[in-house]
Amino acid sequence: MDSVPTLHLLLSFLIFSSFNSSLLIKASDSISRGQFLSGNNTITSKGAKFELGFFKPGSSKNYYIGIWYKNIPVQTIIWVANRETPVTNPSTSKLKFSKTGNLALYNNSSSTPVWSSNSSSSTPESISAVLLDTGNLVLINGSDSDSYLWQSFDHPTDTWMPGGWLGVNKITREYQSLTSWKNPDDPAPGLFAQSMDPDGSNQYVILWNGSEIYWTSGLWNGQFFSNVPGTKEHTVFNFSFIDNSKRKFATYTILANSVITRCVMDSTGQVLQWYWLKEQWQPVFTQPLHHCDVYSLCGPFGVCDEKSSSICRCSDGFHPANDRDWELNDWTLGCSRKSRLQCGDKDGFLEMANVKLPADRENLMVHSSKECESKCMNNCSCNAYAYDSGGCSIWKGDLRNLQQLHDGDIGGSTLFIRLLATDIPTSGNSHHNAIPLILGVVFGVIAIICVVFALAFVYRRRKRAQALKQVEGSLIQFRFSELQRMTKNFSEKLGSGGFGTVFKGTMPDSTAIAVKKLEGLRQGEKQFRTEVSTLGAVQHVNLVRLRGFCYKGSDRLLVYDYMKEGSLDSQLFRDNPTFLNWVTRILDKSRSHCITFRPNQTEVSVSWPQVP
Ligand SMILES: *[C@@H]1O[C@H](CO)[C@@H](O)[C@H](O)[C@H]1NC(C)=O
Ligand SMILES: *[C@@H]1O[C@H](CO)[C@@H](O)[C@H](O)[C@H]1NC(C)=O
Ligand SMILES: *[C@@H]1O[C@H](CO)[C@@H](O)[C@H](O)[C@H]1NC(C)=O
Ligand SMILES: *[C@@H]1O[C@H](CO)[C@@H](O)[C@H](O)[C@H]1NC(C)=O
Ligand SMILES: *[C@@H]1O[C@H](CO)[C@@H](O)[C@H](O)[C@H]1NC(C)=O
Ligand SMILES: *[C@@H]1O[C@H](CO)[C@@H](O)[C@H](O)[C@H]1NC(C)=O
Ligand SMILES: *[C@@H]1O[C@H](CO)[C@@H](O)[C@H](O)[C@H]1NC(C)=O
Ligand SMILES: *[C@@H]1O[C@H](CO)[C@@H](O)[C@H](O)[C@H]1NC(C)=O
Repeated sequence: MDSVPTLHLLLSFLIFSSFNSSLLIKASDSISRGQFLSGNNTITSKGAKFELGFFKPGSSKNYYIGIWYKNIPVQTIIWVANRETPVTNPSTSKLKFSKTGNLALYNNSSSTPVWSSNSSSSTPESISAVLLDTGNLVLINGSDSDSYLWQSFDHPTDTWMPGGWLGVNKITREYQSLTSWKNPDDPAPGLFAQSMDPDGSNQYVILWNGSEIYWTSGLWNGQFFSNVPGTKEHTVFNFSFIDNSKRKFATYTILANSVITRCVMDSTGQVLQWYWLKEQWQPVFTQPLHHCDVYSLCGPFGVCDEKSSSICRCSDGFHPANDRDWELNDWTLGCSRKSRLQCGDKDGFLEMANVKLPADRENLMVHSSKECESKCMNNCSCNAYAYDSGGCSIWKGDLRNLQQLHDGDIGGSTLFIRLLATDIPTSGNSHHNAIPLILGVVFGVIAIICVVFALAFVYRRRKRAQALKQVEGSLIQFRFSELQRMTKNFSEKLGSGGFGTVFKGTMPDSTAIAVKKLEGLRQGEKQFRTEVSTLGAVQHVNLVRLRGFCYKGSDRLLVYDYMKEGSLDSQLFRDNPTFLNWVTRILDKSRSHCITFRPNQTEVSVSWPQVP
């Protein structure tokens, strides 16, 4: 740092000329003793890559000191100082050095700081805080720019930057770990963390509430973490794990200078490696791969459903414990019962089919489903039971990690959740609805007659639409007139192929779609059924998503997401060979692929394969 002597001089001058009255900072990359940051002032790193100042997350009313990318239009916070102690008015708050030489944040002229770097007990006259181009905020003593008195990379929040580290100091036992934000509006520490294994082994874990480990990186084998083979490759970044007498930590650097990336412990429990590509953040690496593998993602009594747009929901008889949190995808508090259990013969069981059973079960030696049910019924703290090939299991206390499975998933069981009988929907299986026997028989007979008639009536239709029925839950059945309107009467032709012609259309919410009108009926009919039943059931990042279908008379139409860049082969085999270079081919999924955005959410829900 050749400018430090100048800085030092300037500092001495400042201190000399303005004893006690501190100065509002002007454009700079540092805060020196005697200066402060307030209101909308910021400091910017030398290469103008990062900026530090007050920010307000999402729709929150609170302000925090944070560091963000200077040149990225979407405000992306990589570090927060006062995570748990926000201030309400940045113009009456000051970030400055305390008398003891700590960088500290003061709220409305209060003399005790709301946040402090806790860096030193001595008082170096020439201390200053410098924001570096790596996004690291460091405290340096005069010209001694080689050793930092304190640095933000030692205290990461939810983001691990290139050049930063995650690990543990073997002497102080201080961990550098990532802790999620509570939700996108609140940077206070949430329940999810990525850290070195607290048991001391050379691996990383992701844990819930400091205790439940739900993902491990596998041990370092000298070259890579065994469950993350991507850490071995040196195509995009250079990953290393260092274990010496003082500390052990992992760090990574970017090999291609132009790549902008960060690793984040997300507030919904996944660790994501984000890349800034084509003017947006895109996740390239996601752990754990399946959202429902995040421990207690949906909270007590929440049901995780990978295929649902909202991921978490409450089953019948329950409602979100906190609606506002649920809107922010903060499901921590889970679901509450609509009515309190009476713990007696007013309770019943709600049948939930095809679910993955939570692990913390208690197994009982009983020999029938009825016996299993009564074991659960007889203990008021029993909230659910299941009776399957594994015998009788009951769950006491909060039910967490309940996951809805779908046709084709393996390992599904039927779970019976205890509810007040009046909360059990009548169509559901309600063992304890004390309906008198005769009434039951009468209803039963009537129901059977109705069903027989109904079956006969719909038999032909159902046979025809069998393939569609399997997937209708996830697909939209469009009316022909709707599609006519959306495609402006099939006016904008995108192309045609063996099976028909593709037209461009626009949904009422103005997302673009591609409508394939199948031609050549006999062959088209078969193709139609196959495409709807298979494509409707799979959702994969590398496959264009089928949104819905329409069949009317002899018309068969399929509705897909619109891929604005055209087909994959036209991208791969363009004349210009630099058009898709290899880094782009590996990282960029905005072209030729389909990304599924969850409605009302800023982040992408798909898991993305590891960077090769
Ligand atoms: C910064 O705040 C001052 C006063 O609070 C205001 O006059 C000025 O316009 C603000 N500047 C920016 C860039 O917002
Ligand atoms: C800062 O001051 C405001 C008002 O003076 C107060 O409401 C808020 O709680 C204070 N914040 C902290 C972290 O003390
Ligand atoms: C901030 O402190 C001043 C006095 O120090 C007081 O007059 C003012 O009301 C306080 N503001 C808030 C928002 O509490
Ligand atoms: C600084 O130290 C105080 C007292 O020891 C503690 O309450 C506070 O949480 C510490 N702050 C940080 C940012 O570590
Ligand atoms: C700061 O540097 C000065 C000399 O440059 C030295 O005397 C002092 O001990 C240093 N303080 C700390 C806390 O390192
Ligand atoms: C997290 O663990 C603490 C005890 O370590 C407990 O008091 C707290 O309730 C737990 N949080 C949740 C959401 O279960
Ligand atoms: C990766 O980093 C290590 C140490 O950090 C270094 O020794 C090695 O040369 C780097 N490899 C590449 C390909 O840059
Ligand atoms: C119900 O279960 C709890 C917790 O396992 C146990 O302590 C209690 O004794 C049980 N009560 C009965 C009546 O079995």
